[in-house]
Amino acid sequence: MKNKIKKIIEKKSKSKIVCLTAYSKNIAQILDNHADIVLVGDSLGSVLYNYDTTRKVNLKMMIEHTKSVRMGIKKSLLVIDLPYKTYRNKSEALKNSKIALKETKCDAVKIEGGARVKEIVHHLVKNKIPVLGHIGITPQTVKGKFKSKGRSEIEKNKLIRDARALEDSGAFGIVLECVYSDISKKITNLINIPTIGIGASVNCDGQVLVTDDILGLTNAKIKFVKKYTNIKKVIKSAVLKFKKEVKSSKYPTKRYSY
Ligand code: KIV
Repeated sequence: MKNKIKKIIEKKSKSKIVCLTAYSKNIAQILDNHADIVLVGDSLGSVLYNYDTTRKVNLKMMIEHTKSVRMGIKKSLLVIDLPYKTYRNKSEALKNSKIALKETKCDAVKIEGGARVKEIVHHLVKNKIPVLGHIGITPQTVKGKFKSKGRSEIEKNKLIRDARALEDSGAFGIVLECVYSDISKKITNLINIPTIGIGASVNCDGQVLVTDDILGLTNAKIKFVKKYTNIKKVIKSAVLKFKKEVKSSKYPTKRYSY
């Protein structure tokens, strides 16, 4: 695991880092090896459970999904999102990270926040728990509408302080969510660990998106989401073929019968 993280850090400024989410084994198997990092994100709250906020996701749900994903991952680095209210202080964060790593055999945790969580990150790293940071829009703490970050000087300076705090605390990388391009560039150039952008421009060391979004499984209408295929069409076509064959008794033929 240490080696996998080292390789990811070494990619900085050399080769772009590919990160995608997975919530179950079958998708994970397809991503494995193509994605440097597979993230079991708490976005599963909205994508799978229709929650209006990731705050409703709990550790038990994260662990069950990550156990499933683990079965499909051999090569990629597997990261679990620590959900809301599971890392409010150092001891809570360590206790829950240990449970997550032990039960799921994942490689690292992701937590939201910058300077505010620097002591927690430091404590986890000191206790051999690799941490991926997450700043910019941090959905667990957002109140009201999501608003991209880094337009004003105050926001720019805060983002820089947050990124530096995470690097100093030992995080191996930082997700930048909905951060203006110029400040993404500045942060990426300032720190020695990789930045992984989501709506944070091409200036980051890597990119992450929600797999269900790129497959066209969700109806996400977010500026940064690019739909690479329309898997719903493929599924619908298979379902309709099955339906037709069942109705006309064409399925199952002898070949599919005992
Ligand atoms: O929850 C999630 O899936 C995430 C990524 C989209 C960065 O945090």
